[in-house]
Amino acid sequence: RVHEFASSLIDRKARGEKLAMLTAYDYPMARWLDEAGVDLILVGDSLGMVVLGMQDTTGVTMSMMLHHAAAVRRGVEKASVVVDLPAGSYLTPDMAVHNARRLVAAGADAVKLEGGMKVIGQVRAIVEAGIAYVGHIGMLPQSVLHEGAYKKKGKTDEDAERLMEDALVLQEAGAACIVLESMVPEVAERISKALKIPTIGIGAGPDCDGQVLVTPDLVGGFPWFKPPFAESRANVAMEVTRAVREYVRKAKG
Ligand code: KIV
Ligand code: NA
Repeated sequence: RVHEFASSLIDRKARGEKLAMLTAYDYPMARWLDEAGVDLILVGDSLGMVVLGMQDTTGVTMSMMLHHAAAVRRGVEKASVVVDLPAGSYLTPDMAVHNARRLVAAGADAVKLEGGMKVIGQVRAIVEAGIAYVGHIGMLPQSVLHEGAYKKKGKTDEDAERLMEDALVLQEAGAACIVLESMVPEVAERISKALKIPTIGIGAGPDCDGQVLVTPDLVGGFPWFKPPFAESRANVAMEVTRAVREYVRKAKG
């Protein structure tokens, strides 16, 4: 299964095919995305912020991810479902494999975890267990408390070099693709050219092999915070508010 998932993504990159990835957290959104032709549906731990109203992703638990992964699975027929391992769920290689298996049992086609060299033991263990794995480097939201803020990555030569090494080591370990989050575009482009597996960018410029967005940012479903790179193509919050206002007015006569 891991070989199938990874090799099909490598083939698609070799053919010059770009990938569209978006997040989903429940059945209707998953089904909308799948039927609209999204390639990869991510049950991201952004769940904590855009669905559960938490301050950041550090408080998201395995049981939350399992609950939402199962809902998304029920809505998807064609796309591949990628599910995040939440903060604290992959502290050791054994723990990473144990929790990755639970996500697969809930319906994940692949699991994603944050980091490069620092978590390479966990990544190798997951791939060796036959589970498809998606990388995530650059700005790492699960480390926000440790880092103090969300910062763009790859600004210095040293940082750019470290990101390239992380990407190469993840590819070597068997990653099927790698999310590049909040990274200087030139660095993301250089990494994309160096890898045979696809890169999927978010706030990392136009020259990745695919793009990912948090769906509420794309459709205007979370108006209280919008990252600068996220283009809103709908205004769901406004539409819902309008419908509810009309309903309230009518109900109250
Ligand atoms: O949790 C998430 O939505 C993510 C994407 C930002 C890549 O990890
Ligand atoms: Na995430």
